[in-house]
Amino acid sequence: MPCRLDSPVSSHPAPAAALPAALAWVEAELDTIRAAGLERPARVRQGRQGREVTLDGHTLVNFGSNDYLGYAGDVRLTKAASKGACAEGFGAGASPLVSGHSLAHERLEQALADLLAVEAALVFPSGFAANTATIAALVSPGDFIASDARNHASIIDGCRLSRAEVGIYPHRDMAALDALLAAQPQARRRLIVTDTLFSMDGTRAPLADLCDIADRHRAMLLVDEAHATGVFGDRGSGLVEATNCAAGVHVRVGTLSKALGAAGGFVAGPATFIHWLRHAARAWIFSTAHPPAIAAAATKAIELVAAEPHRREELAARAAAFRERLVSAGLDISGAEAQIVPIVARAPEAAVALSAALAAAGFFVPAIRPPSVPHGRSLVRASVCWHHSDDDLTTLANAVIRHAHCD
Ligand SMILES: Cc1ncc(COP(=O)(O)O)c(C=O)c1O
Repeated sequence: MPCRLDSPVSSHPAPAAALPAALAWVEAELDTIRAAGLERPARVRQGRQGREVTLDGHTLVNFGSNDYLGYAGDVRLTKAASKGACAEGFGAGASPLVSGHSLAHERLEQALADLLAVEAALVFPSGFAANTATIAALVSPGDFIASDARNHASIIDGCRLSRAEVGIYPHRDMAALDALLAAQPQARRRLIVTDTLFSMDGTRAPLADLCDIADRHRAMLLVDEAHATGVFGDRGSGLVEATNCAAGVHVRVGTLSKALGAAGGFVAGPATFIHWLRHAARAWIFSTAHPPAIAAAATKAIELVAAEPHRREELAARAAAFRERLVSAGLDISGAEAQIVPIVARAPEAAVALSAALAAAGFFVPAIRPPSVPHGRSLVRASVCWHHSDDDLTTLANAVIRHAHCD
């Protein structure tokens, strides 16, 4: 029997007190955000999410979470987590370097290494921390990073943190990447970083070309499989596996928080590299390990990915049919090629209006606005998940098409 969260949550928070003088500038910043149509609501979810989600008391069909395989609310993960908590307590108590690395974490790292068919893996408190810490460990001033223009914020922040020189190449433009690297012969180390499945566009990185370019320029290649882990490949390890590119990718980052339905991030690669990372990745050294219960739940999700390949197969088929329906109605889905399906609205107000119209039709499909996407590229992002029915997808596609054609 799933547990219920019954404590009442007020949707009318108390009015905020006046800010102290030292923080008065915050009001002006918020006014600017509101004037640009970019204020974000703080929604509260009630209960477990799956096909449906209840937000601020409204229950809608859920196209807003990254729960691609439907494991976030799966009771098998809850049971694994409570068993893990009973065995090892709840808090990790310290950084993995000190006493936070439990048996549950050790098992999870082994399960990840097996899933990705690499020698070793290292677990971080979040995917965000895995990216920032790893990039900042790999390069520093005197080095050069080439980064896709649509990479995730955690990659961008990792690049900034490293203080290496950063060259941005237009989204998936391999000729531009080649030219950027050719102009950096003096750099001590060169690093190419890319999402494998882009989080806002649903496009895939050209991995075979990236491996070839990395090889020719003697550059390191780090890929972020956050949205691909669990979803692609015969084993379900991601797009590196699905495209047969494991030999040319040096470092794989991923997250346990999306298709795996748990939380935390990981880095996977050669054992010697992972051993070195334990001495260099500051978010691993100086941050408390995530709770062992979460590691136990993530390990259970990896088992389920192996045992239930039909989930990723069905997901791929449903997402393809959904994209096809939108494209044949003339909608701009930004070249999406996977379960992330954006409907490009351009202006933030248009994205918010489309999202509101879809909510009125019974669907939660969030509007994504700057800074999550560049100015002029606001969109509504539908995350297709395994638990959506064909009927959900057809009804949603029809609602999107109706709104677009009335606009
Ligand atoms: C491409 C990408 N990388 C990393 C992350 C961060 O992962 P986490 O949510 O586990 O911190 C995200 C999260 O949205 C993402 O989209």
